[in-house]
Amino acid sequence: MNTPIADFVNNYTKSNKARLHMPGHKGVQFLGIEQFDITEIKGADELYSPEGIILQSEENASALFSTKKTVYSAGGSSQSINAMLYLAKIRSNSNTVFAARNAHKAFLYACAKIDCDIHWLYPEGSSHLCSCIITDKILAEALKTAETLPFAVYITSPDYLGRMADIKSLSAICRQYNVPLLVDNAHGSYLAFCEDNLHPTALGADMCCDSAHKTLPVLTGGGYLHIAKDDLFYFSERAVQAMEIFGSTSPSYLILQSLDLCNKYIYEKIRDDLSACQSKIEAIRSVMPVPDVSQEPLKITADMRCVANKDVFEKNGIEPEFTDGDFTVFMLTPQNSDEDFAKLKSAFSQMQIVKIICENTPAIPRGVQKITVREAIFSQSETVDVEKAIGRICAAPTVSCPPAIPIAVSGEEITTQHIELFEKYNINHISVVKK
Ligand SMILES: Cc1ncc(COP(=O)(O)O)c(C=O)c1O
Repeated sequence: MNTPIADFVNNYTKSNKARLHMPGHKGVQFLGIEQFDITEIKGADELYSPEGIILQSEENASALFSTKKTVYSAGGSSQSINAMLYLAKIRSNSNTVFAARNAHKAFLYACAKIDCDIHWLYPEGSSHLCSCIITDKILAEALKTAETLPFAVYITSPDYLGRMADIKSLSAICRQYNVPLLVDNAHGSYLAFCEDNLHPTALGADMCCDSAHKTLPVLTGGGYLHIAKDDLFYFSERAVQAMEIFGSTSPSYLILQSLDLCNKYIYEKIRDDLSACQSKIEAIRSVMPVPDVSQEPLKITADMRCVANKDVFEKNGIEPEFTDGDFTVFMLTPQNSDEDFAKLKSAFSQMQIVKIICENTPAIPRGVQKITVREAIFSQSETVDVEKAIGRICAAPTVSCPPAIPIAVSGEEITTQHIELFEKYNINHISVVKK
């Protein structure tokens, strides 16, 4: 597995050329990595019309992920989400996307940019804001009863808590209606390299975004847009152009080198590393005194509702990915040290369980859309105290990051159900459309 981007930059740094081009730091160390931070000079290729080293590197990634086409993102999954929706929308007369309600706010912003309507899919029964498992039954019913078929079905899998959708079944239903299945796989790049390939494109998704930086050894911002091998909808033809529409014309070469080097790691080592890491995670799971609600190989999601000493992780020098009092999410990768695993194991052994009835988590609100997402996001807005927001229309999706899942969707009327969740997540002020 070659690393053409990293090799090119290495050679350039050694060539001692006068850098009479961007960037302004000229390779002088301020942060310490400037020498590797180049721009689109001769031989460095162009991310949005790749013909040389970037194309070679992307083709390496595509072969590793077994896709028809893989395009690098220097703007994380957010950029790829925009591109996915754009690609699906331009091939259809429909203006509506069917989406599971736990979509990240990047999805909402993408819908505002391409000006489409969202028909939300909700799970059966009540569900945590972060989790919204759409079964084949729910999807089949939604498509069967749709007045107009959507231009795409969009789900998030794995979700923030590590729950995974049955992509195979959902894909089979989408195929019946000739509607593409798009998956936000921001949390699951590594799934392609587990013993069973669990990557969405291997299971029937037509397109997916991966935040390589979330679970692979890649710099923050590095991601992929993947088009599945069969490319039934010819998305690969315009995938690069779609990414260009939503990206900077100065993509970070540090990120591109990082994605390039990751190919070598995937090729040479990742499978062994993942298998060792999964064994260590299983060892922790086996001693957890509380349920782990995650179904994802590298994520542990501790149900904290019956834990008295919720500060146990902080006291053990652990920084989790996310905690909301009900669930605490830990993202582990082969790059975590044995000491990290030992700390987590030790923290679980110090947990104090209380035998009181656990509180129920407030369910995902089912709001009523009063104006479109685009109208709301582009409206004149004002910030009001949460308790004064009932009856007002949500403007920007006020959400903390993580999990960055909108409690109220832009354009929805705010109700007491929303307020309950805003308060739970300690959100005191929200943005509403001006009257
Ligand atoms: C489920 C999900 N989708 C999309 C994104 C956006 O990804 P990125 O930060 O790589 O742009 C995130 C980020 O946290 C996420 O959790």
